Amino acid sequence: MTAGQATRAVTGIKPTGAPHLGNWVGMIVPALELARSHQAVYFIADGHALTAVRDPSELARRTREAAATWLALGLDPERELLYRQSDVPEVFELAWVLACSTPKGLLNRAHAYKAAVDANLAAGRAADDGVNAGLYGYPVLMAADILLFEAGAVPVGQDQRQHVEVARDVAAAFNAAYGPVLTLPEPVIRPDVATLPGLDGRKMSKSYGNTIPVFAPPAELRRLVMRIVTDSRGRAEPKDPGACTVFALYRLLADPAEVAAMRAAYLDGAVGYAEAKRALADVLDRTLGPARAAYQGLLADPARIETVLGAGAARARALAAPLLDRVRAAVGLGPRFLRGGAARPP
Ligand code: ADP
Ligand code: TRP
Repeated sequence: MTAGQATRAVTGIKPTGAPHLGNWVGMIVPALELARSHQAVYFIADGHALTAVRDPSELARRTREAAATWLALGLDPERELLYRQSDVPEVFELAWVLACSTPKGLLNRAHAYKAAVDANLAAGRAADDGVNAGLYGYPVLMAADILLFEAGAVPVGQDQRQHVEVARDVAAAFNAAYGPVLTLPEPVIRPDVATLPGLDGRKMSKSYGNTIPVFAPPAELRRLVMRIVTDSRGRAEPKDPGACTVFALYRLLADPAEVAAMRAAYLDGAVGYAEAKRALADVLDRTLGPARAAYQGLLADPARIETVLGAGAARARALAAPLLDRVRAAVGLGPRFLRGGAARPP
């Protein structure tokens, strides 16, 4: 492994719904921080979304929204790479090669598949009911995303830790068979966020319908914040900041002095939940207002988004080519004669 390889950071977001506060504080903010010390390779995982989204125009729209979100929240496309996964066919090629050295049992244990099976069995259905082979192979495609760029660091939320560990296992299985070709990645998880709760207190997730979208219009944002589930303690009763979703969000977004004051008010029974929610909505407005304007501007200019994604894909493909060549040579697949549409002499 060379020094350059060790300092690459790779991460992606699925365009399956509007990006939400959990994506923002759990992954996007840490990823942008990591981009200061690493070469950042960030993308929209539309291939992964294909396991769940059936409407082609929705997939395209959600992909644009995810790209606009990265850009509005501060990704600089001159410095960091931003691309659409499906524009980098090398990823899908590597995924197949990796699948051929990945033990199937590893995928049986991967949590997205296991959760689908558990839900089926609990409902009295056949174990694999409604499960497509893409969902089953999901961790291999994710391993390809990461391993193709020889990533050292993978900034993700806690729920993705297992998938990154599977990527390590996939790399280790390949290396055991063919020699030390692939770099083993490390998940980078911000301990103070790990898992941001959603409106109902479960993990905030597009799949649970319990999200606060980062760029919801202000009135909608406020309405959603007021819907966050709390316990039934009255205004004057002491409250546990450690067990409250409103506080969990406030703590991450407000200034340290505001957070300290809110914590004290919780403990002293000096603030009601409605009041705390209003304070949270104010902080969200304040923090996200300028980015929201940038987001709307980007969505109104899809050609600009396409230009950014196209340039990102071209750079990503160039970065990926040497590793894919080494992988192909290692397994005995022939050299690639056609690269980027141009003929290459044998
Ligand atoms: P979702 O679970 O809403 O479908 P994604 O799977 O697209 O979101 O997640 C993109 C990134 O955001 C991943 O790194 C994931 O770990 C992180 N993330 C998603 N939800 C949360 C959350 N509630 N708290 C912290 N990080 C999260
Ligand atoms: N599976 C991730 C999620 O659901 C998205 C993703 C796809 C990803 N490929 C990746 C994250 C590679 C990190 C690295 O959130």
